[in-house]
Amino acid sequence: MNILNLGELTPERFLREYWQKKPLLIRQAFADFQPVIEPDELAGLACEEEVEARLVVQSPDSDDWSLRQGPFDEQDFASLPASHWTLLVQAVDHWVPDAAELLAQFDFIPNWRRDDLMISYAVDGGGVGPHYDNYDVFLIQAAGQRRWEVGGLYDESSPRRDDAPVMILPEWTAEESWVLEPGDMLYVPPQVGHNGFAVGDGCMTYSVGFRAPSHAEIMRHFTDFVGERLRGEDRYRDPDLDVQANPAEIGDDAIGRLRAALHRYIDDDALLGEWFGRYMTEAKYPELDQAPEEKVTTDELRDFLAGGGSLSRNEGARLAFRRQGEGWQLFADGQCYEGSTQQGPLFASICGGGGLDLGDDTDFAIELLTQLVNQGVFYSDD
Ligand code: SIN
Ligand code: CO
Repeated sequence: MNILNLGELTPERFLREYWQKKPLLIRQAFADFQPVIEPDELAGLACEEEVEARLVVQSPDSDDWSLRQGPFDEQDFASLPASHWTLLVQAVDHWVPDAAELLAQFDFIPNWRRDDLMISYAVDGGGVGPHYDNYDVFLIQAAGQRRWEVGGLYDESSPRRDDAPVMILPEWTAEESWVLEPGDMLYVPPQVGHNGFAVGDGCMTYSVGFRAPSHAEIMRHFTDFVGERLRGEDRYRDPDLDVQANPAEIGDDAIGRLRAALHRYIDDDALLGEWFGRYMTEAKYPELDQAPEEKVTTDELRDFLAGGGSLSRNEGARLAFRRQGEGWQLFADGQCYEGSTQQGPLFASICGGGGLDLGDDTDFAIELLTQLVNQGVFYSDD
């Protein structure tokens, strides 16, 4: 099992000094790193219809870049040049249970902030070029060597190559550079420019990526969520209206009424919390229906568990919970389930990496688990 060792650095210090602030290289963050997937298995995943994969090829002489989206086939791999290409496979944690163990090493960051585990395979010189991401990422060197260069802060207004299908920052300059060996890890905060390229063949890099909704997404999705719950009678009101000097003027009093109306929703913790829980747990690939072909009944599940059967979390499931008033809410792939005050340990165990704690109210627990199995959030290990 791969155990993250921050050395002198505690998770608290990492969060205080580096998280969302500055890059950090940790040599041997994972001593004796054990890859969770072999290169040929990664290539196999990239050939699957439902797996998100990319091939990025650079022509080193002309500095032309090409990008192809999967799924790929054997012929695609056979026709690649000898150097300067990389295969990138998204959400490997959805398909490889061992990857979940690796991600659990990052539990000092809320797991609803986590996006996925992306794995890249590159031959000598292969990489995606100098770019920035809007997300935090931990780059773990899993096999072979990669040179990482980092430096500078970039944003939407930064010049970029308009002839390349991937983001290439033409004016990028490295401020620091290291060659990473297996087990080394580099943390890169959002917007920090970085460039990684394989030094020799057989370079595998794991990206533990996080996500943070943009303010545009927050505004759009929260207002949609609220809008769907309001009545036509919930309207702009002005019973305090005064005669205006000019009837065409939109005065500060009107803006004040508008702000007060918006505050009613934004200041409502229950509304904001339920929306955020649902939104942050929406499935990465909602089109992949994980629900079982045949629904289980509560009695069937009770018998299954009583007979020693166990349930596993779907590798791609996104789960979170929050306190709401006297009770608790569980969020699972965008759905919200309500529980009373005693269901806290059950909800926590449903979201956690360990076993399930059904608590005293096993009827409630089995009823809820039945719904989660039928939603595709859990599956039975038989
Ligand atoms: C990689 O090439 O493995 C990582 C790409 C990145 O920097 O986002
Ligand atoms: Co990047």
